[in-house]
Amino acid sequence: MAAEQSSPTGPDLEAGISIDDLADGQKVLGHVGQEAVLLARRGTEIFAIGATCTHYGGPLAEGLLIDDTVRCPWHHACFSLRTGEALHAPALSPVARWRVEQRDGRIFVRERQEAKEPRSKAAHAGTSPEKIVIVGGGAAGFAAAERLRREQYQGRIVMLSNDDAPPVDRPNLSKDYLAGNAPEDWVPLRPDSFYRDSGIELELNANVTGIDVRSHEVVLADARRVPYDRLLLATGAEPVRLSIPGADLPHVRTLRSLADCRAIIERAKTARRAVVLGASFIGLEVAASLRAREIEVHVVAPEKRPMERILGAQMGDFVRALHEEHGVIFHLEDMATAIDGKSVTLKSGSTLAADLVVAGIGVRPRLELAEKAGLAIDRGVVVGHYLETSVPGIYAAGDIARWPDLHTGERIRVEHWVVAERQGQVAALSMLGSREPFAAVPFFWSQHYDVPINYVGHAEKWDDLTIDGDIASRNCVLSYKRNGRVLAVASIYRDIESLQAEIMMEREAAAVV
Ligand SMILES: Cc1cc2nc3c(=O)[nH]c(=O)nc-3n(C[C@H](O)[C@H](O)[C@H](O)COP(=O)(O)OP(=O)(O)OC[C@H]3O[C@@H](n4cnc5c(N)ncnc54)[C@H](O)[C@@H]3O)c2cc1C
Ligand code: FES
Repeated sequence: MAAEQSSPTGPDLEAGISIDDLADGQKVLGHVGQEAVLLARRGTEIFAIGATCTHYGGPLAEGLLIDDTVRCPWHHACFSLRTGEALHAPALSPVARWRVEQRDGRIFVRERQEAKEPRSKAAHAGTSPEKIVIVGGGAAGFAAAERLRREQYQGRIVMLSNDDAPPVDRPNLSKDYLAGNAPEDWVPLRPDSFYRDSGIELELNANVTGIDVRSHEVVLADARRVPYDRLLLATGAEPVRLSIPGADLPHVRTLRSLADCRAIIERAKTARRAVVLGASFIGLEVAASLRAREIEVHVVAPEKRPMERILGAQMGDFVRALHEEHGVIFHLEDMATAIDGKSVTLKSGSTLAADLVVAGIGVRPRLELAEKAGLAIDRGVVVGHYLETSVPGIYAAGDIARWPDLHTGERIRVEHWVVAERQGQVAALSMLGSREPFAAVPFFWSQHYDVPINYVGHAEKWDDLTIDGDIASRNCVLSYKRNGRVLAVASIYRDIESLQAEIMMEREAAAVV
């Protein structure tokens, strides 16, 4: 997914451009030496920052300028034009910035500037807890810890994860890494040294089994007790397991962790035929990645169309056709009833040969800790606008959290990477005493071969679906509406409209705060 390194395009910004070539509110892609630089104008102010998104290398020059920020067209990260800071996940690292000089009607980009001083420690003075414990080393937990240190939080951060790997870029596990197109060093969110250097006490293989709400301690499986002043629960979700004969055979796998992914890759090295159970996002991304490894892939699922419940019938048909073009064979309105060492038996009576079976039949939020501790639960951990649970001092973020969504006005829970990271960031601020509600509009992306599908908003049900453009030509915007109001927008290669929809929904949400 990362952008290819190529020779710089556009004007040499050290040599300067005419101010007439940069109208107010516009941006220009140029370069300084070999580095791609984005020049942007807001009134009389002109900014120069790195033009390549620090998430997967998206082209910021093709993004959207909003006030003094730019949003990445690929997965909607947001960067400050003033400081280069990554304000909204999924990007977590800043882009570079340069000093700009205006002289004689021309704009020149001068020397690169040091990273802006981190936020003032005073911002949280007096409210800082001494020790924050985070249960979970995934998207939300990592983003929270990173944000705490970015905020100059000086207290202890203890991150307890029952995984054996440090936080990883989970979306990659069903995409480029599984397909064999990304090296393993793309997978960790940060190198091991980051935790040491940032003073984040990351403990792996640390299974938290209880929370003692009265004494403010979490209890680990080995009976150790870890006290906290603030606690963030970010335990994510786990794959639903099959409950049919043969489900425990070694060639039958699910995919959540890096270890799961490595196990599938190991099998894929010798597998010739795979059966994927489930035709939703993870199942179909796995199917695409296994096709990239030239394995014959059959997809078995009970629904009539893949992804219809979330994306509608038309997009479902497109996704099916796209996978069929790449050789995937679908067995829809059917399901597996038994698996043996060589094959999968279907309810319809057919038998499919398989030396690898991957079950992508949904996930369940990991709620046990919250339930046992007596936190309010409603098909997720109930949190308020600041992501605090029903027990003061305990926060929840990511796949487990059901929050009051400002845009739809409903309490929702989703399983999206960007939402989990942004909730982790807001929970971090809340734990430091900030009163900034979680106001982000949900966003997810899914990648099938060379086709990215972006989705912004949240529409569990809609009564009208309009399509602008043509899905088959991979150039479309689908708007999901209820009572005439757009609740969500899905798009393929229409990134600006996707960003504009996000902005529109954010503004609608801001109006109700
Ligand atoms: C293969 C794959 C691909 C995906 N692709 C996309 C995508 O393209 N786009 C998208 O929007 N979303 C995608 N998702 C979903 C996205 O990854 C999740 O929504 C996101 O990871 C949720 O973050 P989280 O922090 O809530 O949970 P997780 O990232 O799952 O992290 C939970 C952490 O908690 C730990 N934990 C759980 N219980 C305990 C315990 N009792 N004690 C200690 N530690 C515990 C786990 O080990 C883990 O470290 C994908 C998911 C998978 C599995
Ligand atoms: S590449 Fe920019 S947000 Fe992903």
